[in-house]
Amino acid sequence: MFFPAYRPRRLRANDQIRRLVRETRLSVDDFIYPLFVCPGDGVRKEIASMPGNYQLSIDMLVKEVEEVAALGIPAIILFGIPEHKDEMGREAYDDQGIIQRAIRAIKETSPAVQVITDVCLCEYTSHGHCGVVKNGQILNDPTLELLAREAVSHARAGADMVAPSDMMDGRVGSIREALDQAGFSELPIMAYSVKYASAFYGPFRDAAESPPQFGDRQSYQMDPANVREAIREAALDIQEGADLIMVKPALPYLDIIRLLREQFDYPLAAYNVSGEFAMVKAAARLGWIDGTRVMLESLLAIKRAGADLILTYFAKEAAKLL
Ligand code: PBG
Repeated sequence: MFFPAYRPRRLRANDQIRRLVRETRLSVDDFIYPLFVCPGDGVRKEIASMPGNYQLSIDMLVKEVEEVAALGIPAIILFGIPEHKDEMGREAYDDQGIIQRAIRAIKETSPAVQVITDVCLCEYTSHGHCGVVKNGQILNDPTLELLAREAVSHARAGADMVAPSDMMDGRVGSIREALDQAGFSELPIMAYSVKYASAFYGPFRDAAESPPQFGDRQSYQMDPANVREAIREAALDIQEGADLIMVKPALPYLDIIRLLREQFDYPLAAYNVSGEFAMVKAAARLGWIDGTRVMLESLLAIKRAGADLILTYFAKEAAKLL
């Protein structure tokens, strides 16, 4: 037999043919852009480890969202840096809290942009944990009620979707029930279903000023060693009423994204987290990699693994290229 009968290079000869046989495509439709809102006026403070990302006061946030909308990015996810932190994270579920005011402002100027809110306590608690703390323990069930109040408060302010990221057991069910009772049965929940206790969140904790003041998050976030547990977590959230499920971080967990894609017929999001972003930016700044190409290749890989949506700090930069 003549060798080789099949030559894979035939379909790689030029850009046109490569486009015809391309299996995965990135689009601006895939992106959710994370934004950090802080107190004050005229504040636009760059986050040192996340170049091009800022802590924004509400007046500046509104302008940023207009830019995001003009780029065609369909959604943002909001994180709040409150005026005051306390033991119980009260500003998280205060109708006059930073996020609630930010949502109302955005809805006035850019009503079409989907405003997703991160539902968690760690940015609002003085101890920086994602739940109620007693005697050094992070309590599960007392936290559920506060998360439900937070989600309902975001909904009242006009949020289009809520995204619980705390990793307490039963939070999706509690939030679903509270939303339904408050008249928000149409509001979707994107659950951070499979959120690992990851070192890749480092820059975010500077951005959101939310590092735990004692201990770590290993008693509630998942062990990076576990795969089967990811299936149980996602199944639970779906059973409790999640509309979308998420894997976080993304690049070090592409196997998990692939697995959930195969196991569940639900929209799947992946969070390309702060540390993944910072590494690319740092290496590019040193001239060690081509930052733009690495960015596009990374986002494509997340999509190829099976994600439908990508939460990424690259959203604006990538949108300009697509
Ligand atoms: C809040 C939350 C975190 C991130 C998203 N929501 C931080 C954490 O769990 O410590 C991380 C996002 C990122 O690193 O980009 N619980």
